[in-house]
Amino acid sequence: MTIREKYHILDYEFYNYIKDIIETDIVQKMDNYIQHGSTTTLTHCLAVSYVSYRIAQKFNLDYISVARAALLHDFFLYDWHNIKKVKKLFEKHGYVHPKIALKNSLKYFELNELEKDIISKHMWPLTITKIPKYKETMLVSMVDKYVSIKEFFSPYFILLKNKI
Ligand SMILES: [Fe+2]
Ligand SMILES: [Fe+2]
Repeated sequence: MTIREKYHILDYEFYNYIKDIIETDIVQKMDNYIQHGSTTTLTHCLAVSYVSYRIAQKFNLDYISVARAALLHDFFLYDWHNIKKVKKLFEKHGYVHPKIALKNSLKYFELNELEKDIISKHMWPLTITKIPKYKETMLVSMVDKYVSIKEFFSPYFILLKNKI
């Protein structure tokens, strides 16, 4: 099974823009960590990437940078739920992980200024001083929140549906 098949990516054009990132072993490691509910960090990033990409295309924004940076926006490689192991980090995870994701991304990939802005500022307004410089950063930040809320609450909706 190819990586594209593994994640059921039917949009070939989108896949071409992200394949050099998603096909690396290091990015595949994001699949070992849970982000919200039963969603791994990689499937979360992929969802944020694709939704942001489609919206960016509609609004004539830099959709290629959006797709690539959104895929890396949570590239921090630890389980932030594991409070005992990363207690100190957990307390400030929301504030520090964009910086860690940027550092990891720069270690493995070449990023343009827009991509750096998207990754490092996607938690705004939590990181109040890290104000997005570009429309694309604001877009990814909003899509991230929308996707995260959906992932977090989806198990509860299933439970509710089963009860009705
Ligand atoms: Fe994040
Ligand atoms: Fe995220």
